[in-house]
Amino acid sequence: FTNEELLAADALKSIARDQQIKKYIQQSSDLYPLLLRAANRFVSGETREEGIKKALELSARGYMVSLEYIGENTKTIDDCVYAKNEFLALIKEAGSQLTETTVSLDLSHIGLSVDSDLAYKHIDELAREAKRLNVSIMISMEEAAKTDKILDVYKKVSEYYRNVGITIQAYLERSVTDMKELLHYPGKVRVVKGAYQETEGVTIPRSQNLNERYLHLVDLLVQANHAVSIATHDETLIREMHKRDYLSLPHVEVEMLYGIRPDLLKQLKEDHFKARVYLTYGTEWYLYLCHRLAEYPPNIYVAIADIVNP
Ligand code: FDA
Repeated sequence: FTNEELLAADALKSIARDQQIKKYIQQSSDLYPLLLRAANRFVSGETREEGIKKALELSARGYMVSLEYIGENTKTIDDCVYAKNEFLALIKEAGSQLTETTVSLDLSHIGLSVDSDLAYKHIDELAREAKRLNVSIMISMEEAAKTDKILDVYKKVSEYYRNVGITIQAYLERSVTDMKELLHYPGKVRVVKGAYQETEGVTIPRSQNLNERYLHLVDLLVQANHAVSIATHDETLIREMHKRDYLSLPHVEVEMLYGIRPDLLKQLKEDHFKARVYLTYGTEWYLYLCHRLAEYPPNIYVAIADIVNP
């Protein structure tokens, strides 16, 4: 990436969480619809109905789907209960309309930022309903400061529910140790490279070294016959796993974010591999858009083109 692109990416990471900018955009009748146009490439819409509609379309085209109601770091109990109820409604609707569904969530969206017990109470309620409707739940992995708490809640809920899985970030130094422990739990493990800006020394930057770490984590899961989601858009990594004959294994799937490398996921689906689209909806699309632009700065030009030429 160019220096300018990297500077823009850094700025976007800060802008994404700035409450005043967010409020300004939400209240601006000029800016809001323009940015929503750019977001439409990456999110299904603002409502659950739009999420389910797009999920049904993707499912009819042969993809599996993970659905997320966008949000994180919910600060009040009322807002956590609201988010939990939205996920409950999503599980009920998706479970009754789609044959195979995963609902994905950040624990900090439903309680972890208030306290771990609230997050556990909520995920327990969601997992119970999901189990009844044959829906899976995937817990996302957040900043390194939350890793222990997230893993603790996951392990606790896994004692009762096999339909709950967890995400592991290959860029964390600790992940190989964590993975060896996670192999003893029943839930699917989604392996990602990792998306957060952490203090130096906590993570490995994008590199060959990181790709080797990623492959090692997948190796551990595959060799243990453990359900795994290979969640990456990195063609080199996917090609390597194809070479190792992982992609045709019954417990292995490839999962990509909606709107990012749809060509690659389509090819995998046409080659009869299990291909899952990670699809989001919600009024917090602005945060999600900033993340997608920041992690791949050339997307800034794509966003501008989407705004100018819808
Ligand atoms: P990498 O960033 O090296 O990109 C490889 C190639 O993919 C790029 O060269 C480019 O071609 C393409 N690409 C990547 N990002 C792109 C973009 N935004 N736009 C266009 N092209 C792009 N992270 C986390 O910390 N916690 C989590 O819980 C999750 N959950 C999650 C679920 C799923 C299903 C996916 C796919 C990803 C996540 N992530 C995540 C995000 C993940 O950590 C990572 O930031 C992104 O997947 C990008 O990394 P890649 O593995 O694609 O590789």
